[in-house]
Amino acid sequence: MPGVRGLPPGSARVAPAAVARPPGRGGARACLEDQQKEDGMTATSVALIGANGHGLHHRQNLVEPAERGLIRLVGLADPQPVVDPPDGVPVYTDHAAMLAEVKPEVVIVCTPPHTHLALTRDALRAGADVLMEKPPVLDRAEHDALLAEQDATGRVVQVNFQSLASPALVRLRAAVAAGELGTVRQISVLGCWRRDDAYWSRSAWSGRRTVHGRPSLDGALANPFAHAVMQALAVLDLPVLRVEVDWLRVRPIEVEDTATLRITLSGGVTVLVAVTLAGEEHVDGDITVYGDRGTAELAFREDLLRLPGDPAAVLVEGRQTLLENLLAFRASGTPLLSGLARTAPFTTVIEQLRAAAPPYQVAADVLAVEDGHRTLVGVNAVLRRCAAEGALMNELSTPWGANGPDRTANG
Ligand SMILES: NC(=O)c1ccc[n+]([C@@H]2O[C@H](COP(=O)([O-])OP(=O)(O)OC[C@H]3O[C@@H](n4cnc5c(N)ncnc54)[C@H](O)[C@@H]3O)[C@@H](O)[C@H]2O)c1
Repeated sequence: MPGVRGLPPGSARVAPAAVARPPGRGGARACLEDQQKEDGMTATSVALIGANGHGLHHRQNLVEPAERGLIRLVGLADPQPVVDPPDGVPVYTDHAAMLAEVKPEVVIVCTPPHTHLALTRDALRAGADVLMEKPPVLDRAEHDALLAEQDATGRVVQVNFQSLASPALVRLRAAVAAGELGTVRQISVLGCWRRDDAYWSRSAWSGRRTVHGRPSLDGALANPFAHAVMQALAVLDLPVLRVEVDWLRVRPIEVEDTATLRITLSGGVTVLVAVTLAGEEHVDGDITVYGDRGTAELAFREDLLRLPGDPAAVLVEGRQTLLENLLAFRASGTPLLSGLARTAPFTTVIEQLRAAAPPYQVAADVLAVEDGHRTLVGVNAVLRRCAAEGALMNELSTPWGANGPDRTANG
């Protein structure tokens, strides 16, 4: 199959109509706007809690749906001075005052993870549906408490795991369900990124396991690669039985920048995650599903999918945002793609990681240090092998001698 301009070599584009998937971006947009006109609905009022940092990105993403008349931004809440506040939008230092005064229909919670539970609960109790940033909460008791809060208030929480909005994931799940891969035995994630010293000092919670006595766990697994972990879990959407981890760090932080994580799902399939933020050449995040009749590969941020028999990866088009999906749910009951219940296995994994021994720091002589970057020499090859073999780092021989203690979190 020939490559397509703008895509990696060896990729092709698939017409949206050719694959089973939720309504495409254009389709979803047209549907939402039509539905809104039919129902004589006004634009949904949206407020944002946590207006700086990644909140700036949310504000940018609200511009287009506001121009289309789907939403209107009615308030921002942040205890810190808000960067570039938009004209005419009230800004509050206290989210409770904002909820009481502007009574938004939808609230986006984009604050540090240790604050998600309280803020989301307040928004639900104020009558709003919530788009909450990932990671949702950091243990199952909190997750279950929020699920109960949804029931009690009749409102919903959508978690902003964009990878669950992937039409390529829908296509992959359909292929698995149709037996195109045979019996699935392993799902692997391989990701090699680079983050410099500045990244680890971007916020007060960066690189921390706890903040003010609350769990934070800002490591590679719970933060940058959370989308990949969640997407790998969503291939089968099965409960988590066991979590094992071997993880390390290349600088004095409290969390891991390099990890292998093995999750055993109900039925025995394993999910093996092999990721680093101290990588050599970039590997964006490839999910591989191994079945006894074939293998599928999914590039988790690009919606590129290669199924058994495909000569090349195919771009599956039609991604919608999770805000659009939430608006469609409110308008017509379209199922949520990243509803709180679906993300429970991710929270189970996070809870088990909190119980694991802290990551160990590798010796300086296995690092290449340059311009604020610390590269773990040989890490890409080790992680590639772990992903292929379903192994943790400490089950292989590595240049940094990763044959330390068993770091099983829930053995
Ligand atoms: N989905 C993604 O791709 C993506 C990308 C980046 C960050 N995130 C997530 O977004 C969230 C925020 O990350 P960030 O990097 O913007 O963090 P950040 O530390 O930069 O803070 C965000 C803002 O929240 C504010 N805040 C803190 N407590 C608050 C409170 N009680 N009420 C109102 N505002 C409060 C802070 O003052 C800050 O302005 C995290 O959960 C993070 O994991 C998601």
